Amino acid sequence: MRVACPVFPSTVKETFVSTTVPQLSPENTSVRSAIPRTILMCRPNHFTVSYRINPWMHPQIPTDTSLAVAQWEQLYRTYQKLGMQVHLVDSIAGLPDMVYAANGGFVIDNTAYGARFTHAERQPEGPAYMDWFRDNDFDVRVPQNTNEGEGDFLLVGDTILAGTGFRSASDSHREVAEIFGREVVTLNLVNPSFYHLDTAIAVLDDSTIAYLPSAFDAAGLAALERRYPDAVIVTETDAAVLGLNSFSDGYNVVIADRAVDFERQLRERGFNPIGVDLSELLRGGGGVKCCTLELRR
Ligand code: ARG
Repeated sequence: MRVACPVFPSTVKETFVSTTVPQLSPENTSVRSAIPRTILMCRPNHFTVSYRINPWMHPQIPTDTSLAVAQWEQLYRTYQKLGMQVHLVDSIAGLPDMVYAANGGFVIDNTAYGARFTHAERQPEGPAYMDWFRDNDFDVRVPQNTNEGEGDFLLVGDTILAGTGFRSASDSHREVAEIFGREVVTLNLVNPSFYHLDTAIAVLDDSTIAYLPSAFDAAGLAALERRYPDAVIVTETDAAVLGLNSFSDGYNVVIADRAVDFERQLRERGFNPIGVDLSELLRGGGGVKCCTLELRR
């Protein structure tokens, strides 16, 4: 028997939960439970696209900062309704990508491994996020190696999946293994459109992931297939709207509302997908997960 167990106020149910009874395949009968998370976000008051450090960014096309803020607010409210504890770090003028809080660090066991950004345009964000961690009583580890935080480090159960190829240096993977004392699995990213690991893999619960196979080299793909034989495989179409760039509490999965096949697959597996529109922030090359840094005390 399977019992879906949403842990959030009924108002959210009315707004988000489909009345459709999920069609469960026989192998997916596990009980899903929502564990509300503690997260850090940054309101995109200064969001724009004024430089190009990934293929999604087109500085010649004007952006609408107020639309970005309105869409971000929708994500923020969604998390609050799901019972998450949302902290905010102040946005800084001149740092338009600071909204992508996932890149600000990687936090487990109250220890915050700071970010050291690849591109000069984002480098001041590293110290800004580390200041926030210090002010909020995290044990901050100043990074020795280039890394972009939870953009490239994803915790799945006790294993850390670590991306490299475009941003985080593989030396940072060793540093993370030493700091957190957990197994670190290096995965090479090969498609510049999926330049951070969190654009190519979604963590759904402690043992379930979703991913885009073509984003990885042969060794990375083999590792994923061996470790996660039941993973959700997303379509190129869904990945192209950053559908994988999503945030799960173990039952509710906040995703890009345009990732329709991913939404269907999540429902079939007994998850509760919740679509949001972050189209303006997509112009910076980021989505739901990029705007979300998990704080694990
Ligand atoms: N414009 C930002 C960059 O290229 C987007 C970061 C997206 N963040 C993420 N976690 N994938 O650095």
